[in-house]
Amino acid sequence: MVKELVRGKSVAIARAGYIQRPYSRYLPTLQSETLVSRGASFQKYHNFSTAAKGPSEEGSEQEEKISVTFVDKDGEEKHVKVPIGMSMLEAAHENDIELEGACEASLACSTCHVIVMDMEYYNKLEEPTDEENDMLDLAFGLTETSRLGCQVIAEPELDGMRLAIPSATRNFAVDGYVPKPH
Ligand code: FES
Repeated sequence: MVKELVRGKSVAIARAGYIQRPYSRYLPTLQSETLVSRGASFQKYHNFSTAAKGPSEEGSEQEEKISVTFVDKDGEEKHVKVPIGMSMLEAAHENDIELEGACEASLACSTCHVIVMDMEYYNKLEEPTDEENDMLDLAFGLTETSRLGCQVIAEPELDGMRLAIPSATRNFAVDGYVPKPH
């Protein structure tokens, strides 16, 4: 069994290698590795989605939405419906809410900083990863219930959550902008 798995893996790698070989002269090593690993992650996702649920179950989950309120720096509220599985950054962008997200959710910025307005909801969220905490440390106006919007994913228990968008991001602060207190 183990042997078979190992053999299967080497065949897959050999195949990937075969596909890459004609181009390897032109591609840097790193790029071909990326292509192979992309194939692997696709495989992982594919296995997960088929094993976890059938098509009808998947369809009903996609339709399920929760209500989230974004409160902007002027105190204006915007109520939106967010499909389960969508990040708050994506939800903001879909609804024309100003939340920057400069690194497109790759945990390399803090411009998607949001403040969970109720501790009750904050406690329902998954613990932030070390990478998220590192970026949050750089966020302007960090609070006890701060999170990165791209890491907060809509779950049924978050229905009714309210998120405040801070009045400035670190980029403005670095540029010398001093936000007025509201
Ligand atoms: Fe950069 Fe969220 S968009 S960390």
